[in-house]
Amino acid sequence: MSDRTFYVTTPIYYVNAEPHLGTAYTTIAADALARYRRMTGYDVMFLTGLDEHGQKIAQAAEENGMDPQSWVDAIAPKFKAAWEMLDISNDDFIRTTEERHKRGVQAFWTSLHDRGYLYRGHYEGWYCVPDETFWTEEQLEDGKCPQCGRDVEFLREDNWFFKLSEFGQPLLDFYEAHPDFIQPETRRNEVISFVNQGLKDLSISRTNFTWGVPLPFAENHVTYVWIDALLNYITAIGYGSDDPAEKAKFERYWPADYNFVGKDIIRFHCVIWPAMLMAAGVEPPKSVFAHGFLLTKGEKMSKSKGNAQTPASLVERFGVDAYRYYFLRDVTFGQDGSISMESMVQRYNGDLANDWGNLCSRLFNMVGKYFDGVVPEVPADEAETDEDATLKAFAGFLPEKYEAAMARLDYIGALEAAWDLIKDANRYIENQAPWNLAKSEDTAGRLAAVIYNALEAVRIAALFTAPVMPNTSAEVWTRLGLGDIIATTDIASSAVWGQLPAGSPVSKGDPLFPRIYED
Ligand code: MSP
Repeated sequence: MSDRTFYVTTPIYYVNAEPHLGTAYTTIAADALARYRRMTGYDVMFLTGLDEHGQKIAQAAEENGMDPQSWVDAIAPKFKAAWEMLDISNDDFIRTTEERHKRGVQAFWTSLHDRGYLYRGHYEGWYCVPDETFWTEEQLEDGKCPQCGRDVEFLREDNWFFKLSEFGQPLLDFYEAHPDFIQPETRRNEVISFVNQGLKDLSISRTNFTWGVPLPFAENHVTYVWIDALLNYITAIGYGSDDPAEKAKFERYWPADYNFVGKDIIRFHCVIWPAMLMAAGVEPPKSVFAHGFLLTKGEKMSKSKGNAQTPASLVERFGVDAYRYYFLRDVTFGQDGSISMESMVQRYNGDLANDWGNLCSRLFNMVGKYFDGVVPEVPADEAETDEDATLKAFAGFLPEKYEAAMARLDYIGALEAAWDLIKDANRYIENQAPWNLAKSEDTAGRLAAVIYNALEAVRIAALFTAPVMPNTSAEVWTRLGLGDIIATTDIASSAVWGQLPAGSPVSKGDPLFPRIYED
């Protein structure tokens, strides 16, 4: 096992409805990163899961005439099935109703209680059930939730409180000492100015319903759902367990490299979460990265707006790899991005069918036609032309360019780097015109070199498109007679030019991305 570890998480999703494009977006982004890090030799822990407690879930269950546990048990498989359909390679899947999580949550709050960070108090204020968020009178906008615009309810409860107000300065110091903790920069500024306004103590328990983790030191109190949910990032890897293997796991993977979140939940992740961990003497994660919203016709796609689409229909039309590609290629990670059927068809036909799919088809076809379906041997004395050198250079730059982009979660930049090679390979084939070389005497020399070079470019491009489009890359390598691309653990060495063995059988196969015609 590699001693370089990498731990990335998605938010855990509410099980009040089925997964939609928005929740799938975070999950795909985390998946592409996890896959890439595995290909660069890291021992990766990629966690996703479900947020199953709280008033909102209890209400959803009731509306559906079910008890909460039966309800969450009915929805959980739908999330698992959606992630399987989208080829999500998570290493674990946590549900907050699992014993391991509940035990960890209780251990955590017991520890904060023992450390003197909790006290009993009285809460009076507003609460937004859909967002599971407390609001003060001044924060409301026209009497509604300032975040989602929906109705809020007035709460009057004797609760337990966490002394969040003591963490203002420690948090500001932490942000300063760890400039990468909140990303991107705009979110960092937003959080800093929020903390600068002063923090209020946080109510951490609820008493007017029971669907939550009981607070071990307070009868009839269940933990507030957010502070239950945030802990999933540590309970999943063994926090609170006595089992030595679980303890070792926690030591191994914590602190996480990235908690991926949507921009609507940064205060929980960048203020409450690190303060909770500081109070417990646990290091905060290295980085919280907040992406933007997917917009359709200018509006946030959401369950409550009724404009949420499930991934299934798009996957059916475009295929899973194209689905994954579209969202990572068209939406800048960290900003809001408009999505539409038109732009998806355009990306599909342009980048995938024309550039990538076509490159593979025409090339594999030519190997069949000119070299009986095997990778040709290039004579040792075959001279390298400037254009050969240019193509090789594109392949040579790719690992570094790709790494630099992925290190800043610039998925578009990473895919563009891969496309530079794909496009140059297409240009190369056009310019070299193997169909003309095939008519000459020198098929064993120049023609062999051109076909070999283009195949090699394809082999390497498949490596760098694999994190986003794992199925297509696996298929390309299979057609090249190569092994399991997904098992690559040193992508940079695998990308060194010239490793495609002569004599390897190449099969043509069906088009990788058959053109889609708009209806
Ligand atoms: N359960 C909490 C998270 C707890 S994490 C400790 C939650 N769940 S959620 O299901 O409502 O949302 C999960 C994530 O999906 C959020 O990060 C949210 O930003 C994201 N998205 C929901 N709709 C979205 C879009 N339209 N676009 C992109 N992502 C959005 O919040």
